[in-house]
Amino acid sequence: MKKLIIAIDGYSSCGKSTFAKHIAARYHYLYIDSGAMYRTVTLYALQQGIITEQGIDEEKLKSSLEHIDISFTFDPATLQSIHFLNGENVEEKIRSIEVSQHVSPVSKLKFVREKMVALQREAGKEGGIVMDGRDIGTVVFPEADLKIFMTASPEIRARRRYLELKEKGIEASLEEIKKNLMERDLIDSTREESPLRQASDAIVLDNSHMTLEQQMEWIDPLIRKLMQS
Ligand code: C5P
Repeated sequence: MKKLIIAIDGYSSCGKSTFAKHIAARYHYLYIDSGAMYRTVTLYALQQGIITEQGIDEEKLKSSLEHIDISFTFDPATLQSIHFLNGENVEEKIRSIEVSQHVSPVSKLKFVREKMVALQREAGKEGGIVMDGRDIGTVVFPEADLKIFMTASPEIRARRRYLELKEKGIEASLEEIKKNLMERDLIDSTREESPLRQASDAIVLDNSHMTLEQQMEWIDPLIRKLMQS
């Protein structure tokens, strides 16, 4: 059986990671959350005072990159992925609203992207992976076996994110979340370096009105066919 590289890109909070985790668990693949890597760099920059009211100290961030060690684990039984920043479990911290508010400007920087893309290619080079993000099918793995581009209405995405954060005990208003999603989408899709866009050979999945089961039923035949090719 062929070990596929499955790229899942799309707008913020479309349910990419939930979908990707379920695919990884079903096919015994590794799940790689590329957004978490950008979030981890952002957390480091916030902790080190590299991001201030005045903006990002780009020179300092550039020279700090070598001190940022990012690692992660994925447990297919619980669908839990945990990210570590220099050995510390930062899974909760990287999901905070503060990190969400600063991650897109950090992700715009060419030197940050270069380092993250190199890490992502290394992590996925053996195949048998599902990676979600914004530029996986266009830049990280343009030769991916299967490329999905996910989308859903902004209202539905904001509500899903709100419920997800609430479940984790993180307080945020629906309006604040929607504003953050729209801002991130705008920065992500208009930036110069690898903007969010649909790869020409990606299949679009609008899951606004689909359950997770329906999404799995939709993708299963595609995966099975490719695995046997
Ligand atoms: O996927 P998630 O919403 O956690 O990603 C957080 C942010 O990281 C995105 O809004 C985007 O700015 C950045 N990102 C990116 N390229 C990726 C994945 C995420 O620029 N491949």
